[in-house]
Amino acid sequence: MSEPEMTMKGDGASGLIPCDVLVFGASEILTNQPGCGGNSMAVTAGKVVAVGDGKELRQLYSPRQLVDGQGLLGLPGFLDGHTHPAFAVGRAEEFDWRAQGLTYLEIAERGGGIHSSVRAVRSCGEEQLTQIVAGHFRRMLRHGTTACEAKSGYGLSVEDELKSLRAIRSASAQTGMTIYPTCLAAHMLPLEYKDRPDKYLQIICNELLPAVKEQKLAVAADIFIETGAFDVVRARTYLETAKDLGFALRVHADQFESLGGTELAVELGAQSVDHLEVLHDSGMEALAMTRKTYVGLLPSVPHFLRQQADAPARRLIQAGVPYFVATDFNPGSSYSASLPEAAHFARVRLNLSAQEAFLGITQHAAASLGVADVKGSLAPGFDADFVLCDLPDLHHLGYGFGENPVWRVFVAGKELNLS
Ligand code: NIG
Ligand code: FE
Repeated sequence: MSEPEMTMKGDGASGLIPCDVLVFGASEILTNQPGCGGNSMAVTAGKVVAVGDGKELRQLYSPRQLVDGQGLLGLPGFLDGHTHPAFAVGRAEEFDWRAQGLTYLEIAERGGGIHSSVRAVRSCGEEQLTQIVAGHFRRMLRHGTTACEAKSGYGLSVEDELKSLRAIRSASAQTGMTIYPTCLAAHMLPLEYKDRPDKYLQIICNELLPAVKEQKLAVAADIFIETGAFDVVRARTYLETAKDLGFALRVHADQFESLGGTELAVELGAQSVDHLEVLHDSGMEALAMTRKTYVGLLPSVPHFLRQQADAPARRLIQAGVPYFVATDFNPGSSYSASLPEAAHFARVRLNLSAQEAFLGITQHAAASLGVADVKGSLAPGFDADFVLCDLPDLHHLGYGFGENPVWRVFVAGKELNLS
């Protein structure tokens, strides 16, 4: 910073630049931006204004508040690119059924699985659902997630999907969680439309999506392409409708069976296609050809479902396909709100390096949501969403598990009280 600029912005008496917050004494602050780093950071109006050496920044800035970094590791707030927070109750009993050998799809066929979450959401008032979603957001915030993609998908009617998306919006305002809401009306066929799939499709395409758009309740639309959920023909109708309405597309595909969902997602220019545990070569080729559609790696899911297959993450990364790492937080296939834990599974099951897992839960997740210019990094101009972690260095991210390394969480420069 040049001298004249300093004096101009200074507070007159001291010549120092006023700022809201100065974090000092971190072991290190990792910014995800080349050439930008240090153990100290200045924040004004919710934005990072400088990252550098603590002594130097203290000679330059006069902060309204000093934050002692306590030798902790400073990281950008984590971004979870795939979550289902709009559920009302957990499904812990299914965990036992699965131990008895029932598969995810068999549980769903019995009226359990997603259908039981739908019953619970439908019987929940909007205010009650809002408080539950806020509780889910607080759990995520406690583990360092300061922004998330947040799906509906347990309402499966016009009224209950709109209610879920409003609950997500209200819970975001209550907790400070930044949200990128997604309408997942095509999560599964609701039981009352079991034999009339096209009627349900018509309702969500002609009534629900336009209403969601008009009320600005979601920025993306998502679908579960799977046997027992939606086939590629219906998925095309839904996704093309959503695209025409201006929604970004995010897709669940190739989790249990390969039906061509990845190829369709790439063809339609989806922002992301997630799961991919049974990805076929043609899907891999489509992704590698364009390198535009992000793959959402959700390694907590096969762990939770006791599934052998994992997404071919190393091959995808090798082929230059952009990726992020997410929790898939939901009651049926990943009851974990922790991105550090997802980073652990990404390292153990997918063989990602610490740096790759870190990028997967920060900058890459932000890029998959189209916000990498403001989120997922900590250089000047970025949002001052950051976490202070009890980690000696980045190699320890996802090394330990079963413990929360996140000690302090800041959103727009303000510390959250999450106790
Ligand atoms: O991403 N695969 C589909 N949907 C969720 C699970 C939802 C549930 O079981 O409640 C998933 O794994
Ligand atoms: Fe999911």
